Amino acid sequence: MNEKNGFTTPIRDSRIEAVLSRLHAVADVQEAEMAARPPDLKNRNWGPNFLKDKMIPIHREQGAFLYLLARSIRAETIVEFGTSHGLSTIYLAAAIRDNGTEGQIIGTEFVAEKMAQAQRNLEETGLARFVRIREGDARQTLRDLPEGIDMCLMDGFPPYSLEVFRLIAPRLRKGAIVVVDGTGTLREAQADFLAYLRDPGNGFRYTELPIGDGTGLAVKDA
Ligand SMILES: C[S@@+](CC[C@H](N)C(=O)[O-])C[C@H]1O[C@@H](n2cnc3c(N)ncnc32)[C@H](O)[C@@H]1O
Repeated sequence: MNEKNGFTTPIRDSRIEAVLSRLHAVADVQEAEMAARPPDLKNRNWGPNFLKDKMIPIHREQGAFLYLLARSIRAETIVEFGTSHGLSTIYLAAAIRDNGTEGQIIGTEFVAEKMAQAQRNLEETGLARFVRIREGDARQTLRDLPEGIDMCLMDGFPPYSLEVFRLIAPRLRKGAIVVVDGTGTLREAQADFLAYLRDPGNGFRYTELPIGDGTGLAVKDA
């Protein structure tokens, strides 16, 4: 299940895989529609109404990558900028559950309908207890984060990434992992944020991997 072009999922749970499989299939159709009529990414208002009707989730391979990363560092506290319908959240919550700890994911979403859909999807997987989604603009809702965050996924709208990351970065523990979606098509839109991660003065080691639409990976050095 949840397979496309030979992709193998590391999630060995038929209930979760069934939900992921269904959601990815819907997202595939939406992605094909967007490929046929690409949204204008330049000079546009990146407010809550932009792509409101689209899930725009991470790709399956990125989900597998996130799951395995969160397992390998035994992540307990994960912050996610940009929850949408919660596909990435499901992969991360599955990892927290399978780590066998009482971990939590703090999600963020400024479209109420998307947040409600994410909540339903999480309930369907049985993983909702590991997730608290904060409704509103992450530039406000992530102002009071706990110390010692193990991992974060940066997958909100790119013009806000640096401002949001400045709220998260001081709360990341040493060795924490940062994953960035969309270092391909969204490269220009988040150039300031990517430059921040690359700058050694900011305390991160950074590289990019050809997974999904380009995936940034950073580790907090100090
Ligand atoms: C690319 S989608 C996230 C996909 C999700 N991570 C997944 O894999 O299913 C980006 C989401 O971030 C939300 N978003 C963008 N900027 C935001 C902000 N400043 N505060 C809260 N949510 C934001 C958008 O509404 C959108 O649903």
